[in-house]
Amino acid sequence: MAADTSMESSSLQQVLHHARNADGIGSNTIKDLYDHWTGSYDTDLLKQNYQGPTKVSAVLSEHCTDKSASILDCGCGTGLIGEKLHALGYSNITGLDISQKSLDVAEQKGVYNNLVCTEVGKEKMPFGEDEFDAIICSGCILPTHMRPSCFREWVRVVKPGGIIALAMRQCYIEVVKGEEEYFSKDFQLEFGEVTQDLERSKSWQIISKTNFPQYYEGSLGLLVVSKVL
Ligand SMILES: C[S@@+](CC[C@H](N)C(=O)[O-])C[C@H]1O[C@@H](n2cnc3c(N)ncnc32)[C@H](O)[C@@H]1O
Repeated sequence: MAADTSMESSSLQQVLHHARNADGIGSNTIKDLYDHWTGSYDTDLLKQNYQGPTKVSAVLSEHCTDKSASILDCGCGTGLIGEKLHALGYSNITGLDISQKSLDVAEQKGVYNNLVCTEVGKEKMPFGEDEFDAIICSGCILPTHMRPSCFREWVRVVKPGGIIALAMRQCYIEVVKGEEEYFSKDFQLEFGEVTQDLERSKSWQIISKTNFPQYYEGSLGLLVVSKVL
């Protein structure tokens, strides 16, 4: 990523700093960071040519063709995914995030039916079993945000036959040239253990796992699509 010292990118730099130095970072820090960032988040990410929401929405639409499907956008932030899904014709989208200020921005976009402020990973999400047809997520699976253990909770709230579509940076779970500083062995092990456990217990089946070159400027993206069994 190009060095950028502008005010707009300082929050992004902090997120990346915490991603590299995860020790001792609590959820309050993350919440405060995103609460503070809301005003410039969309334009900052646009400048970085952030492709996660576009890619993950496109892949979800290949597997979930019912436009009235109930979709949970987990870690929706300011609603970049909601906008993409809405443009694709989806009309039943719930957004969830730890940052109420981000949710306030998402609400202004008028693309979500329901917005919920809660922390994923602390306790059960406030949804019943099999409540959604799909979950979509971009930019949230990283050491300081949502851990891979939350996939179990995602499987709980998605109906059998439902789809989970995830976009993330590859570098958190594998050493990627030029992005070595973000690799976390601990996170890689947890990612492997949880995904394999869910396959072994026939809770989900991974349908596809693909890399794409432009997650955002200069970073390798990973798209994982799973079907809940
Ligand atoms: C990089 S942003 C991605 C937002 C949106 N999905 C996008 O693609 O623009 C990460 C989001 O995850 C949220 N977040 C981080 N950790 C969380 C947690 N444990 N529970 C709920 N939301 C969390 C943050 O508040 C932030 O809005």
